[in-house]
Amino acid sequence: MPQPVSLLLDCDTGIDDALALAYLCSQPHVELVAVSSTPGNVDAEQVARNNLALLELCGRPDVPVAIGARAPLEIPLVTTPETHGPQGIGYAELPEPQGRVYAGDAVELWIEAARARPGELTALLTAPLTNFALALRAEPRLPELLRGVVIMGGSYYYQGNTTPTAEWNTHVDPHAAAEVFAAFSGLPEEKLPVVCALESTERIEMRPEHVEDLAREAGCAVPELVLPGQPEGLRSTASNPLVRHLSDMLRFYFEFHRAYDQGYIAHVHDYFAAAVAAGTVRYGTRTATVHVETAAPRLLGTTVADYRGLWGEAPNARIVSENHPGEAFDELIRSLGALARRIHG
Ligand code: RIB
Ligand code: CA
Repeated sequence: MPQPVSLLLDCDTGIDDALALAYLCSQPHVELVAVSSTPGNVDAEQVARNNLALLELCGRPDVPVAIGARAPLEIPLVTTPETHGPQGIGYAELPEPQGRVYAGDAVELWIEAARARPGELTALLTAPLTNFALALRAEPRLPELLRGVVIMGGSYYYQGNTTPTAEWNTHVDPHAAAEVFAAFSGLPEEKLPVVCALESTERIEMRPEHVEDLAREAGCAVPELVLPGQPEGLRSTASNPLVRHLSDMLRFYFEFHRAYDQGYIAHVHDYFAAAVAAGTVRYGTRTATVHVETAAPRLLGTTVADYRGLWGEAPNARIVSENHPGEAFDELIRSLGALARRIHG
């Protein structure tokens, strides 16, 4: 059993955020302290609604879901319904949540929690970094108060997924990303954020057979077939609600990746970042100084890593340079299958 982890999660749920959140709910050693909802894949209110519904589906209605910023720090919000669907969860139609969004502001919630439990909490960021940047502005000691930080964001010497050079999270709010990396500059290596960027997260490539394996692991009697030759938009009839909703999300995500010539697969970026934060997958990192472009229009949100000290500036990140996709999917399917059986079996 991995070491206990207490997480503050900030996400823009989204299909891979949903997979990450469900995975975290399957981990007994993970304490979900709070889930904050940043605008990105969809708007903040829809992200929060998705988070509430997912936590209830995963048996965790107790976890507070908060909203902070409604837009990036300096540029207008751009969402991506084509990637994650109009509600951010593909074809899934989650039950209307019973719970309500936390009455206070997400940024204040994060700061209060970090101050109350110095050195104990890990921040997992799978969205544009707007809320985290605002929290750092309000509490500059946050890097010291947190036990650790894991970020899904950026791409380093690897093509972007939003512009030719920029990854989605850093492109939606480049100014926030720049402020976040600047806040960690010069801290001891163990305090630098672990950064899961496209060159490592696109190796975590979910395929239809993984969905079939998940349904089997969850005890579904009928094989869960999500296949490229099926009509688009087909809805799952899996007997297990968690499997059914995840299958409907992933079908949409497979279709999106195929439409952009990546094959009938799904890059589940945020799941990998969540497993890194939970300490349940192996990975290697390289220390670097990260720059986020905030001025050149064609390069907005582009991230560059100086691994060799050529800029003469202190490092501010530990970028994942090695991971193990097969092990990551074994972990995901085993864990989510057990959760699905335990809650809905
Ligand atoms: O570029 C991938 C990232 O952008 C993931 O976090 C995905 O959910 C989107 O937010
Ligand atoms: Ca995300």
